[in-house]
Amino acid sequence: MQDVSEPTSPVSRPQSRSKVARLSDARSARQGVPAQEAERTILMVEGLSLAFGGTVAFAEIDLSVRAHEIHAVIGPNGAGKSSLINAISGLYAPQAGRVRIGEEAFTRVPSRQLSALGVARTFQNLALFAGLSVRDNVLSGLAGARKAGLAAQLLGLPAARREAREHLARASAVIALLELGSVAERRAGSLPYGLQKRVELARALVARPRLLLLDEPMAGMTATEKAEMSGFIRSPRETYGTAIVLIEHDIGVVMRLLDRVTVLDHGRRIATGTPAEIQANPRVIAAYLGLANDESNEFSDEDAA
Ligand SMILES: Nc1ncnc2c1ncn2[C@@H]1O[C@H](COP(=O)(O)OP(=O)(O)O)[C@@H](O)[C@H]1O
Ligand SMILES: [Mg+2]
Repeated sequence: MQDVSEPTSPVSRPQSRSKVARLSDARSARQGVPAQEAERTILMVEGLSLAFGGTVAFAEIDLSVRAHEIHAVIGPNGAGKSSLINAISGLYAPQAGRVRIGEEAFTRVPSRQLSALGVARTFQNLALFAGLSVRDNVLSGLAGARKAGLAAQLLGLPAARREAREHLARASAVIALLELGSVAERRAGSLPYGLQKRVELARALVARPRLLLLDEPMAGMTATEKAEMSGFIRSPRETYGTAIVLIEHDIGVVMRLLDRVTVLDHGRRIATGTPAEIQANPRVIAAYLGLANDESNEFSDEDAA
């Protein structure tokens, strides 16, 4: 099993490469990932629409996310961000459009097969087992990956024992990666809010998803906690090559973390681009104008790329 501390090695690249390939390799070299891999599309959303009765949650949304990309979906409250993630993860059934995950396309994503598809998510509101330890919460993220049947587990058969050992090792690796070691045996519910959000991230990460959907992972955090969390969100991309869709309301904090941004407003996609392009986009500025006098100042100078 690959150790988490071992970065994806650029050494294993094929020897004969065209100049173009080498150039784009250089671009993705900071992530230590071959260019072909980095450009592979993991998630493709096409013309996706969802309404609840007369309320349009979102309409005709297109979105593509490549391997190793951190792609933010931003927008004012009610813009449709959570609904979009819920549709991508199969909780909601869209009325039109499709979602492609890897090579498989769906009109409704089968939520029970999410982990088999290599997708994990967190929720806008905390969804931990408050009474269980941090370690057990993280292990619960592997429930969908368990292959040994219940009988084999109860009988302690070798395959089941091996699997349990492997899962424990994976949980320990993620706990170390997200620096949760000192609280691993504590009850999740007893931890400060910021740490609980980090435990949720660990639980989503333990299955080593190729696509991670994070719904406002920093909501309600202090500025220090947000800065800390940014680093922890970056680490799975660097360690496992995970593509991340990150929903954020308060975009200022995360601008530096992002590769691309998609902006929703009233359920419509109004822009997609790099953080710098988005900050200069007149439609985006207009959509956020109502927030310009807000203390949170979504596009502060400090965060200009
Ligand atoms: N389960 C639901 N039932 C009815 N309406 C919903 C439901 N979920 C979301 N909506 C509506 O869809 C719109 C988008 O909501 P949401 O996706 O939560 O926005 P955001 O996450 O951007 O704040 C809102 O008008 C909201 O009231
Ligand atoms: Mg939301």
